[in-house]
Amino acid sequence: MGFEPKIIAFCCNWCSYAAADLAGTARMQYPHNVRIIRVMCSGMVHPELVLDALAHGADGVLVLGCHLGECHYQDGNQKALARSAVITELLEDFSYETERYEISWLSSSEPDRLVKAFTDMTERIRKMGQVDRP
Ligand code: FES
Repeated sequence: MGFEPKIIAFCCNWCSYAAADLAGTARMQYPHNVRIIRVMCSGMVHPELVLDALAHGADGVLVLGCHLGECHYQDGNQKALARSAVITELLEDFSYETERYEISWLSSSEPDRLVKAFTDMTERIRKMGQVDRP
């Protein structure tokens, strides 16, 4: 069997976590490679959480927040978006491919977008291979 990546998905309680629930109820299939971590807002995902995940066994990290303008904490997802630039720089500094990280937006009623995000990330990381750890 080939390489199977481990993907960490930080899912906002109000959108993607609820969408994952809906996907489960609707028996939609998504790759078993993804481990969901529920956060109250995408704005809570600090850059070190992404680096820690990659350092401790994850091959890719997804952050899925509410659509811009729809964050329950007003501008949490705007902060998450601003942090994305920092995360990308840090990944480069630590010699990780920047494609191992992705941020995206969806609503609780869009389980299809969640499944697509999980599937696309898994396929991409599967092609890239395992993280090079010292
Ligand atoms: S509450 Fe969902 S991204 Fe802020």
